Amino acid sequence: MSPRTARPRHYLMCRPAHFTVDYSINPWMDPAKPTDNGAALAQWEQLHTLFLRLGHTVELIAPVPGLPDMVFAANGATVIDGKVLVARFRYPQRAAEAPAYAAWFRENGYRDVRQAAHTNEGEGDLLVAGGRILAGSGFRTDTRAHAEAARYLDREVVTLELTDPRYYHLDTALAVLDDTEIMYYPGAFTPGSRAVLERLYPDAVLATAADAQVFGLNAVSDGRHVILPEAAVHLAERLRGRGFTPVGVNLTELLRAGGSVKCCTLELRH
Ligand code: ARG
Repeated sequence: MSPRTARPRHYLMCRPAHFTVDYSINPWMDPAKPTDNGAALAQWEQLHTLFLRLGHTVELIAPVPGLPDMVFAANGATVIDGKVLVARFRYPQRAAEAPAYAAWFRENGYRDVRQAAHTNEGEGDLLVAGGRILAGSGFRTDTRAHAEAARYLDREVVTLELTDPRYYHLDTALAVLDDTEIMYYPGAFTPGSRAVLERLYPDAVLATAADAQVFGLNAVSDGRHVILPEAAVHLAERLRGRGFTPVGVNLTELLRAGGSVKCCTLELRH
């Protein structure tokens, strides 16, 4: 089995101080069900602490009142080589997050900060895999944004089409494990996109429907540790079999909004 080495990462996160579910823009969100802000904060804090304990650097953006989904920092932008492509959210409920993220980058010394022209939900749909970007579409990010990202971030972009509304962002159905390896749930993709994934990643780790349903693919890897929802037990076993170290976390309160580990974590690449 290949030895796995962790590379220290730089992340941006947003404390869920104003987290709640008071609108519905994906099938997981039911405003009729009460949320527990204290539980969301405590679960998120465990993820934050875990990243620090694993030796990663975590920056924090101030949560904005009235933007309950801002905790899902992955959606704020895509950052490669210090270049920042700021999101353009599909739904008006999240639109004001984009200027908040843009301001954070400008205030923190990023000089190349561009507001996306086309609908683009950041790393929710644009996953950086080595030299390429795997780009989701179908529910949120516009395919014109894929071309925009390819030009601005100077990477090859592979468009993947999502079909199941429960897996509305690419990062709910696929995770990058290292520069050349991924894991995904085939059932979330069109037959054409499944064929693309099989061709590019013949050895990918495949998730079961049960793993996907608990958001097991919404994971963050540092090349060795794979942080994922603890309920994704089959997936954890498969990752162990490949020499990764799965680390399960409990983010069930945030799952009420349709998000988990990866959604909370934006990677800053310099
Ligand atoms: N409620 C949020 C939305 O529907 C959840 C976003 C989750 N983020 C992610 N990267 N998948 O937009």
